[in-house]
Amino acid sequence: MKQITIRKARSKDLKGITHYFRELYKGDEEQGFYKSDLSLHMRKSGQMVFVALSDKKLIGYIWTVYYEHIKNKGVAYIEELFVSEKYRKRKVGTQLVNKVISVLKQRNIHSVYVAVGSHMHAAQRFYKAIGFTNSPEKWFFLSI
Ligand SMILES: CC(C)(COP(=O)(O)OP(=O)(O)OC[C@H]1O[C@@H](n2cnc3c(N)ncnc32)[C@H](O)[C@@H]1OP(=O)(O)O)[C@@H](O)C(=O)NCCC(=O)NCCS
Repeated sequence: MKQITIRKARSKDLKGITHYFRELYKGDEEQGFYKSDLSLHMRKSGQMVFVALSDKKLIGYIWTVYYEHIKNKGVAYIEELFVSEKYRKRKVGTQLVNKVISVLKQRNIHSVYVAVGSHMHAAQRFYKAIGFTNSPEKWFFLSI
């Protein structure tokens, strides 16, 4: 298998990230938000995006938001993680999450959260396999 490179996203990656973003949210194409192009320039501080490349081809990305200030116990959320179907089950997702974790640790972030729908069986298995457990926090929810 070709070497996988994980690095910070650059402007030139946006086309590829947008492509996968639409794959991730397939079925919601009619919603304006999903039709819009992503912009790294619109990112606020506290967000980070990494991409996975194989032979210079973008094969996945991870988008994370983090808060350093919550009573000195910073937390991060994985907003999006996507690996191109052809490259799944080759530890690309694991490498993307591990990269984010190593950067978060340097920033004094102590926990990483991710919301995974109960219908997303592969994602549920993936996060369990790499060490995530059910959150001890009680999340609030309001159906509107
Ligand atoms: C979830 C996803 C990111 C996993 O990426 P990946 O690169 O295939 O994952 P890895 O190869 O690093 O998998 C690590 C482990 O997770 C588990 N796992 C991954 N995909 C799995 C699947 N489809 N079914 C069961 N277990 C799975 C396995 O235990 C695997 O280890 P193994 O291959 O040695 O058995 C990828 O399937 C994906 O992009 N799915 C669509 C988008 C999505 O659901 N994103 C997450 C929402 S935030």
